[in-house]
Amino acid sequence: VIAGDRLFLGANRGIGLAMLKKQIRSCTDRFFVIYRDETRAQELLEIHQEYSSQLHLFQIDPTYEQSWEDICFWLQSHHVSLGHLFNSIGILSNDCIRPEKSLRDINQDHLLEILRINTTTIITALKHLQAFIKKDKSFILGSISAKVGSIEDNHLGGWYSYRASKAAHNMLIKTLALEYERRFPKAVLLALHPGTVDTELSRPFASNIKHDLFTPEQCADYLYKILEQSSPSMTGQFLSWDGSIIPW
Ligand SMILES: NC(=O)c1ccc[n+]([C@@H]2O[C@H](COP(=O)([O-])OP(=O)(O)OC[C@H]3O[C@@H](n4cnc5c(N)ncnc54)[C@H](OP(=O)(O)O)[C@@H]3O)[C@@H](O)[C@H]2O)c1
Repeated sequence: VIAGDRLFLGANRGIGLAMLKKQIRSCTDRFFVIYRDETRAQELLEIHQEYSSQLHLFQIDPTYEQSWEDICFWLQSHHVSLGHLFNSIGILSNDCIRPEKSLRDINQDHLLEILRINTTTIITALKHLQAFIKKDKSFILGSISAKVGSIEDNHLGGWYSYRASKAAHNMLIKTLALEYERRFPKAVLLALHPGTVDTELSRPFASNIKHDLFTPEQCADYLYKILEQSSPSMTGQFLSWDGSIIPW
């Protein structure tokens, strides 16, 4: 069961915003949300007006390590004891970057940018947040990965950078879970596949999707259930939205 202060990365829209809404309506714990651009956080700012004493917002880009000194100062000033971290920062494409169809589409700068956002952000965040986790209290991490990051399940090819960024994301979570078994025995670190969800990330590819998409709210319901029912014996797993284990 999630308890204690809750920190969200990527909750200004999409799956993260839906998860924030789901959680904040059902408890009195404190919520801390980091977002980088207020023009892309209208709904988050509206929720903040409704929950102003429970929800704390900080505007900075958490994908750069130099931001974490300021973030930690902010958390310290609120005497945060972290019980939950939900990370849903991720990129598949943008105005310049398209997922690769074949090897000739590889662009080193684009590959590095996707790795920086999807992979390095969470492990850098965890390094700095370690000071806010308590050995005798539970800590539940839900970090959104993607099934296409499964090496074993890769039967289609393509999307080199995104697949690699999520495979590496999963290795980092698994490796930290092993380190935390001794250091923070009550911690549960999970890499989660959210299903295919109707968000800005999936929208450019919606015409290729042959099945129904989840709404962000449906996805948040599924992922919340997994997090609420998780236990330290599950740490280091890569789980799908329905709770099933995805092969690495
Ligand atoms: N939607 C799906 O079908 C699907 C499927 C599998 C996995 N996922 C994963 O689910 C997670 C959430 O995605 P979503 O569907 O909710 O997408 P989304 O609505 O596009 O949200 C993406 C989030 O990532 C942040 N982000 C993107 N680029 C960033 C950058 N350069 N710097 C800082 N933050 C950045 C966004 O913040 P800004 O608004 O500030 O950019 C936003 O909070 C991602 O990790 C994605 O890979 C999604």
